[in-house]
Amino acid sequence: MIEKNISLRTYNTFGFDMEAEYFASFDSITKLSQIIKNNLSKSIFVLGGGSNILLTKNIDGLVVRNEIKGIKIISEDENFVTVESGAGESWHEFVLYCISKNWSGVENLSLIPGSVGASPMQNIGAYGVEIKDVFDYLLAYNLESGETEKFNAEQCQFGYRESIFKQALKGKYVICYVAFKLSKKALKNTTYGAIEDELKKMGIVDPSIQDISNAVIAIRQSKLPDPALIGNAGSFFKNPIVSETLVNQLKEKYPDIPNYPSAIGTRKLAAGWLIEQAGWKGKTFGNYGVHQKQALVLVNYGGGTGKDIYDLSTVIIEDIKTKFNVMLEREVNIM
Ligand code: EPU
Repeated sequence: MIEKNISLRTYNTFGFDMEAEYFASFDSITKLSQIIKNNLSKSIFVLGGGSNILLTKNIDGLVVRNEIKGIKIISEDENFVTVESGAGESWHEFVLYCISKNWSGVENLSLIPGSVGASPMQNIGAYGVEIKDVFDYLLAYNLESGETEKFNAEQCQFGYRESIFKQALKGKYVICYVAFKLSKKALKNTTYGAIEDELKKMGIVDPSIQDISNAVIAIRQSKLPDPALIGNAGSFFKNPIVSETLVNQLKEKYPDIPNYPSAIGTRKLAAGWLIEQAGWKGKTFGNYGVHQKQALVLVNYGGGTGKDIYDLSTVIIEDIKTKFNVMLEREVNIM
């Protein structure tokens, strides 16, 4: 059923009260295809968990919410299992399910808000793991042809917080199912500094995947605001990839500047560090601001608007450009 003028407040983790001109949810490809056939508006926007969007205005057109559920085993052998999930499953619930079955590969991605369907969209990543490391395939509905197509990892063109669905195929497909190849042996990706420290604090030497998940959850809860309490969309900016030359120049003034390996001739900087150095961490402007514990996250304490957050991000981008000669890019989708 297609409804009119529906508030999206509970459908975006910033909690902004913008409206969709038309709104419909679907729990199967058949239902999605019926909605598309009955659609009178020109534009279609697909909502997953709404955890990576900033609504700055009402949406003219049709908003569809993916509620395809279900998790099933596609194949398995002694070492691996390929498991397919409906795109409408909550990502964290999916991670917990895999941990309960002792399937390893996604435990480092515990507590990331959003849906399974959104995970390949921007190749979600945290604590040393990205979705592309365990991705097998996805099934996506082609809005133009009405056909369902299969994409392997190569076809998804995964990059740092990137995929073809954010680039060349933006707005053309609806991701309906995602399959992951998980390991029956614990992978133990614990090299990310913060995880090592947290496990030490917990007194754990040989961690199970449950322990790793618990460590990740503890780190996230200590740094990142819970969207159920404070509106936010996780990292608002990407960590910028810059030339080695620029990093060397910056190191003269800031010897401790965090920087990480990237493609030849480049390094990745920590946007959170740059924003903190520039004095923005914890700054509040009435109802919104920069999170106190992680400068990469912009927050809505209630009453702020999408435009407030957008304008704040513009000022931060300009300030970081002036102070460090680094151009920050937004990670969140702006609507
Ligand atoms: N830092 C600061 N101040 C801050 C934040 C960070 O100095 O306010 C420094 C830290 O001390 C550290 C470095 O920056 O030296 C990196 O910080 P952290 O490990 O917290 O990670 P991040 O680069 O800020 C990225 C992801 C997060 C992910 C974490 C952990 C991006 C844009 N963000 O943040 O992802 O959870 O690594 O892997 O890549 C998200 O995408 O929404 C997200 C939360």
